Amino acid sequence: MSTLDHEALRKAVVETCRKMNDLGINQGTSGNLSVRIPGGLLITPTSLPYERMEPEDVVELGFDGTYQGRHRPSSEWRFHRDILRAREDVDVVLHCHSTFATVLAVHHKEIPAFHYMTAVAGGTTIRCAPYATFGTQALSDHAIAALQDRQACLLAQHGAIVVAKTFERALWLAVELETLAKMYVHALTLGQPPILSDEEMGRVMDQMRRMSYGQAPDPEGTNDVPRPRPS
Ligand code: 13P
Repeated sequence: MSTLDHEALRKAVVETCRKMNDLGINQGTSGNLSVRIPGGLLITPTSLPYERMEPEDVVELGFDGTYQGRHRPSSEWRFHRDILRAREDVDVVLHCHSTFATVLAVHHKEIPAFHYMTAVAGGTTIRCAPYATFGTQALSDHAIAALQDRQACLLAQHGAIVVAKTFERALWLAVELETLAKMYVHALTLGQPPILSDEEMGRVMDQMRRMSYGQAPDPEGTNDVPRPRPS
């Protein structure tokens, strides 16, 4: 992340937000996005639709809660700041109200290991954080707890958060989360599906780590995947 200067990061924030809309995981003024910079973060402004947002609209926020910019930062600046401050493994925080993730969240339902892909968020479940009013410290505290050892969580009666090292990975994970949520909602119409055991999910997670599953092939050649034949 630090290899891009602030101007490039602002552009990347706007592009990623527009892709969220194009991918159908966000609409209107819901959702927000942030990226780590030294001493703080760049974050989307509050209440500005992504179609109208320009790189100069992105707000610079310090970890101390002070901001610089022509708009106020997203109303969810607390959880963006707190996650980035607490998690060295995270550089990008994406929040959206994608439909099926939110359908589960309004029922305070977590996503269990009904499908092996639940493991893409880092564990045997994708938790649902308890409800708290948007923009509050309570919501931020609940989100941090639900994201422990995870890269995604649901927020009760609200939406979802995904965290990642890059914008691309965050978008990918947000789409995976929405797809899992959609499959789970449909699966529930036939009754409660069987759940994979913790032991099997452990094997799935090992396999995902070994294969760098869902990530571009490793140029170092350490991934346990077939190598192209030298010509
Ligand atoms: P902001 O426009 O303030 O980012 O709020 C959108 C949202 O999703 C609140 O949770």
